[in-house]
Amino acid sequence: MKIGILSAGGDCPGINATIRGVGKAAITYGMEVTGILDGFSGLLFNDYVRLDERSLSGILTLGGTILGTSREKPFKKKEGDIISDKPQLIKQNCEKLGLDCLVCIGGNGTQKTAAQLSEMGLNVIGIPKTIDNDVWGTDVTFGFDTAVNIATEAIDRLHSTANSHKRVMVIELMGHHAGWIALYAGLAGGGDVILIPEIPYNMDRVNEELMERSRKGKPYSIVVVGEGIKTGKKGEPAGAYIAGQIEKGTKLETRVNVPGYTQRGGSPSPRDRIIATRMGAYAASLLNKHIFGRMVAIHHNELTAVPLSEVGGKTRFVPNDFYLIKQAKKIGTCFG
Ligand code: F6P
Repeated sequence: MKIGILSAGGDCPGINATIRGVGKAAITYGMEVTGILDGFSGLLFNDYVRLDERSLSGILTLGGTILGTSREKPFKKKEGDIISDKPQLIKQNCEKLGLDCLVCIGGNGTQKTAAQLSEMGLNVIGIPKTIDNDVWGTDVTFGFDTAVNIATEAIDRLHSTANSHKRVMVIELMGHHAGWIALYAGLAGGGDVILIPEIPYNMDRVNEELMERSRKGKPYSIVVVGEGIKTGKKGEPAGAYIAGQIEKGTKLETRVNVPGYTQRGGSPSPRDRIIATRMGAYAASLLNKHIFGRMVAIHHNELTAVPLSEVGGKTRFVPNDFYLIKQAKKIGTCFG
């Protein structure tokens, strides 16, 4: 069998570990492995490299993706597109390359494209990746644990400076429209207030909580904010908006911190390396059994494969009754 692997969408720690997992297992099964460069763009412009034992060695701990990535969405028409039928061209190029299957490593957008290519008759396997942990159909994605570690360290470091200056520290964390990173890092870092997109907040309640802490003699407060929460104007940065509202409503000195892309850069955590390796090797075992049209998933720590048709285009949000929210509320964490 000849297989192609690509990574698409925003990068995250653990993609290389996944490429290595798929590639090494596929080679063991006797398959030939091609790395498609820069996501779906590589299939439009025939950009690819051969992956062998040698090129798959030494990449387990590397951040980013050795294959590069892009936000190319072949099923979405853009102004200025020079290629009239991108999906058809992708299909033709896969045939020209002699690919028996395409492995697509990516988030929700990529899984949707993978589902559409699968509907067109291509043999496709999806592997979920994103720091946001919001891919529908799996309990977990690799990249998330590393991002939570980085975000938690950032919060940890805010405590001492907030305490010295008696300030409110607002930290804006990534996650797109989902609040997984803010919730986990917020809990791990001891955030006093955690605002996530899934839970509508009341600014008066947030300010009252901060005033109450100040009245109790607590010298500082940490407010963790998911980037996707509602703000005053569409597109207004969440952290800056909340910090402004706090200063206005409480007169407490407030600073805002945005760790940004550091959350998805660098080496994957050991947990993410393990998830990525498991998912990669499992994807190769599906290919070996000629099972296509599925996304690799983890349910209750067991590997499984869910139909791509069920996954594409959906987002996995934090449920309002999520157990961590209930427990955090018990210890007095304010969710607005
Ligand atoms: O999906 C991962 C992510 O880092 C989100 O958390 C963030 O909203 C987005 O990507 C940023 O996208 P871009 O790489 O296009 O700036």
